[in-house]
Amino acid sequence: MTIAENPRPKTPADLPAAEPTATRPADEWWRSAVIYQIYPRSFADGNGDGMGDMSGITERLDALAELGVDAVWLSPFYRSPQRDGGYDVADYCDVDPIFGTLGDFDRMRERAHGFGLKVIVDLVPNHTSSEHEWFQQALASPEGSPERARYIFRDGKGKNGDVPPNNWESVFGGAAWTRTVNADGTPGQWYLHLFDSSQPDLDWNNPEVHAEFVRILRFWLDRGVDGFRVDVAHGLVKADGLPDFEKPLTGGSMGGAGVPLTPEIEGAAEPELPSTPYWAQEGVHEIYREWRRVLDEYEGDRILVAEAWVDPLTKLADWVRPDEMHQAFNFVYLETPWEGPALRRVIRDSLDAFGGVGAPSTWVLSNHDVVRHASRLALTAENPQGAGIGPNSEGKPIPEVGIRRARAASLLMLALPGSAYVYQGEDLGLPEVIDLPDEARQDPTWYRTGGERYGRDGCRVPIPWEAAAPAYGFSHTGESWLPQPEEWAELARDVQTGTPGSTLELYRAALRLRREHGLGIGRLEELDGYPDDVVAVRIGDVTVIANTGETPIELPAGELLLSSEPVGEAALAPDTTIWLRLQD
Ligand code: NOJ
Repeated sequence: MTIAENPRPKTPADLPAAEPTATRPADEWWRSAVIYQIYPRSFADGNGDGMGDMSGITERLDALAELGVDAVWLSPFYRSPQRDGGYDVADYCDVDPIFGTLGDFDRMRERAHGFGLKVIVDLVPNHTSSEHEWFQQALASPEGSPERARYIFRDGKGKNGDVPPNNWESVFGGAAWTRTVNADGTPGQWYLHLFDSSQPDLDWNNPEVHAEFVRILRFWLDRGVDGFRVDVAHGLVKADGLPDFEKPLTGGSMGGAGVPLTPEIEGAAEPELPSTPYWAQEGVHEIYREWRRVLDEYEGDRILVAEAWVDPLTKLADWVRPDEMHQAFNFVYLETPWEGPALRRVIRDSLDAFGGVGAPSTWVLSNHDVVRHASRLALTAENPQGAGIGPNSEGKPIPEVGIRRARAASLLMLALPGSAYVYQGEDLGLPEVIDLPDEARQDPTWYRTGGERYGRDGCRVPIPWEAAAPAYGFSHTGESWLPQPEEWAELARDVQTGTPGSTLELYRAALRLRREHGLGIGRLEELDGYPDDVVAVRIGDVTVIANTGETPIELPAGELLLSSEPVGEAALAPDTTIWLRLQD
């Protein structure tokens, strides 16, 4: 194979500031780990009630070990009324009966460790469930009491106090304040909830809240977990005085700063960060320094991962300074369109920003809050994060384009140095489920916007394991809390296992080669000499070329390691990524 112009590795001066390898222990697992997200409700159901659970996870962990990931992250499985899929926690130190018991958790953790898989759990510190003991005590206690001081209660404005204390909006739609009712039936104070009204925000100015979360961290660290994914890690501290937000958040963002996270075109200035009085306040960092000191007391490399929708990346890097968290989800990357210039820029910016503070970059394309990338990358109209797609959405994705781009995008992501996150089912190439009946939808976004935004149920449908089994092997009874589409039989794990060209085999091969070639700890060099809509990089001895354009490109001579589609004679087709070892 030949290429018109010989790609020239950039000189060191051209390169992004890579992680300072000399100053960090190379053996810290999380710097290069591939971490698989399990959404427990939808992974595997052990008891047949249609809801995934801990014993289901335990039984299916072998599949993840075979896939070749390094760790699992479990979304919340704690006691919860499940008003927001478990992100409404009523007891942080117990397993909800729908998922099993603490004993079931211990068995799952032991089995995962037996396979060499690290276990990360989710920590939800911005808010509790309204059924949490603390909130129930607060409601039963007088204004100004210590019980109320754990949350953010305020008097309303206006003559009768019937106007909310400020103009903040819930991320899920509607006002971020709900008024309480006093014991005598009269209207009372308001409480803040950046999410659903069943998720009251805690007051992180209160030392009691700090002490409680240190207790919770220790509870799980003592139980042997390897880390925490920290929910809404940019939201815990609110601006003093709770001022009105001059530009209320109306989009579907999972807490973004109110601006799209998508990077601007190459060379353009970083978007200015609007000062949102509830996101990215300076005070959050002291909390993570406190937690870091706790984790550092424990043996092994235990980690904190920030779910922080913060843009630009240089700002997000503050969350992973040496004495704070270890990783932050790279949502700027997730929101980058499948376009060469934007991808080149975000890869460069990510390595620069995280490398600048000695942290690895992370890479992520899908999770339980966004339209699955096998659909998102082929949307034909704007779809803000968290809005979802449903039967009446405009700009529905073209499925063939989506899966092809998703495979190419995944193959690019899995080559990049740093740590990559894989959301359950993306390894099967699952698309977003669009045709869910209205009555099946459970996301609070759907209810709080009166059906205007479909929300996130479409990426949370229970995943298929066996084509011929009831509920495709998710549950032996055939029950499933969200209906699974018929087309998923052909995407089931058993059908894809050992099938050349399947998405599952593509992921397995990618993870094997990633490990063999040390891609996760490699140094990335950008390669020149390719068309603008091509991303061409070299990591160690592997050259990665992704063609996001509409025309085939010539390939350099080299040994084919892996490609997202069959590669023709010396040409790389549109929407295809290839890994090559170039001839000298
Ligand atoms: C982010 C979580 O990923 C999402 O699922 C949840 O609804 C919100 N935080 C609120 O906890």
